[in-house]
Amino acid sequence: MKQDLKIITFCCNWCSYAAADLAGISRLQYPCAIRIIRVMCSGMVHPEMVLHALNQGADGVMVTGCKLGECHYQEGNHAMLSRSEVLEEILADFGYEKERFQLVWLSAAEPERLVEAIYEMHNRLLALETDPGD
Ligand code: FES
Repeated sequence: MKQDLKIITFCCNWCSYAAADLAGISRLQYPCAIRIIRVMCSGMVHPEMVLHALNQGADGVMVTGCKLGECHYQEGNHAMLSRSEVLEEILADFGYEKERFQLVWLSAAEPERLVEAIYEMHNRLLALETDPGD
C-alpha cells in the first residue's frame, strides 16, 4: 500500500488559503501529503492544471475556494463548479477515478472544515491505493 501520497491543493487567496493559515496557527493536524498552491481565485484553476498535476504523479487534486455566492471575483467559484462537471468526465477518459478530484467551499473562519476535507480526501486515496490482493 502506498503511504507517501501527494495531494495538490489549490487554495484561493481570500478564503481557503486563509483557512489553511488559520489551521496552522491553531496547530490543527493534517496529513503531510498536502501540497498547497495559492491562487487568487478557484476560478483561475483550469481543468488542464488538474490533469497536469495527476499526470505528473499527484495522487489527488483538491480545489478549494470561497463558498458559492462569496467569491471575491463574483463568479469565479461558479466557473470552477461548471468546469468540475466537465473535468469529472475528462478524468475518466484519462483513466483517473473521480475520487482523485474534489472541490471544497469554505470560509476563512473554517480551518476545521478544510482539515476535515483533507482527511476525507487522504483516506479516500489510501483506499484507492490499497491493492485487494495484498
Ligand atoms: S476568490 Fe475565493 S473562490 Fe474566488
